[in-house]
Amino acid sequence: MLVLALETSCDETSASVVNDKNVILSNIVSSSQELFESTGGVVPEVAARKQVEYVLPVIDTALSKARVSLKDINYLAVTVGPGLIGSLFVGVSATKTLSLIINKPIIPVNHLLGHIFSVFVKEYQGTFLQKTLPEFPLLSLVVSGGHTDLVLLKNPKEIIYLGGTRDDAVGEAFDKVARMLGLSKYLGGPKISQKAKEFELQNKKTKINFPRPLMDSDNYDFSFSGLKTAVLRYLESTSNFNISEVAYAFEEAVVEVLLYKLKKAYDTFKPKSVSIVGGVSANSKLREKALDLFEHNLFLPPLYLCGDNAGMIGIASSYYFNTSTTNLSKINPNPSLSLQKPFDK
Ligand code: KG4
Ligand code: ZN
Repeated sequence: MLVLALETSCDETSASVVNDKNVILSNIVSSSQELFESTGGVVPEVAARKQVEYVLPVIDTALSKARVSLKDINYLAVTVGPGLIGSLFVGVSATKTLSLIINKPIIPVNHLLGHIFSVFVKEYQGTFLQKTLPEFPLLSLVVSGGHTDLVLLKNPKEIIYLGGTRDDAVGEAFDKVARMLGLSKYLGGPKISQKAKEFELQNKKTKINFPRPLMDSDNYDFSFSGLKTAVLRYLESTSNFNISEVAYAFEEAVVEVLLYKLKKAYDTFKPKSVSIVGGVSANSKLREKALDLFEHNLFLPPLYLCGDNAGMIGIASSYYFNTSTTNLSKINPNPSLSLQKPFDK
């Protein structure tokens, strides 16, 4: 069984061929990210225009890299939300057109479930990744540029929402602090991480102690806007600050809060597996500390599957074959899809 999956929810245009044995045969990602370094954020219309340009070549490359042609495809899968409406439309329209051409059903996929299933890959473009997959119940922390959610999956269809951010997403906080520090105008997470490592290598202790918001609250919610403001106040009140030290202290605070809440949920719900997924799961401090905390039960995506890609959408879709349809009027973008209402019902 072969699935051709498309992901166009933000500034990536991605196509992938996967099979129903958790194997990604090809995963092509084209990004317009560099266009937004000067604007300091995605300009939705520009992103969508680029996606119209990229979508067909990306599909062609994904098919040829997997050494298959359109007639070999059994199912189509596409991200229907959450995301930017114009961007989602590009992927959804392309998928509907393909469905008409090859007369195959479409599986609509929630982008956040895509991230969750990014740890369910056994083989990636010819490289063996893992034999054992996460088991259910699975506790999953989704940390990306737009989302911070903690969910318990009893199985792929029964998802209990435990908590999420009340304001900024964690990736957004990384990006805003990177901007404050003059490190990057857009997608500054990796830059913060790099600077924090530089400070760590100096073997110095920091006296900066940023707040750990909602750490003691009796729930699984997060808040990052106060932390971001605390960084701003520190920068305003300190004439001679050390950028790498601030990056280090900020990263420490974020990682501590995330892992504290994740461990609390783990001890309460005693899941069989635990995972951290999404763009921010590429953060090395978060990965190292999480591995110390959970060891064998922890699943982390390989770095190339942390960011947005169609491979994870294809793998997720194979857990939802029963939602496939050839009724194209039922496949529509939904920018506000969430993990609270994961299936748009
Ligand atoms: O999942 P993703 O690629 O896109 C969304 O669906 O939002 O996540 C992108 C986010 C950005 O905020 C980026 O700065 C952050 O992930 N990010 C990181 C790292 N790599 C990417 N944050 C912290 N440390 C990193 N190494
Ligand atoms: Zn994402």
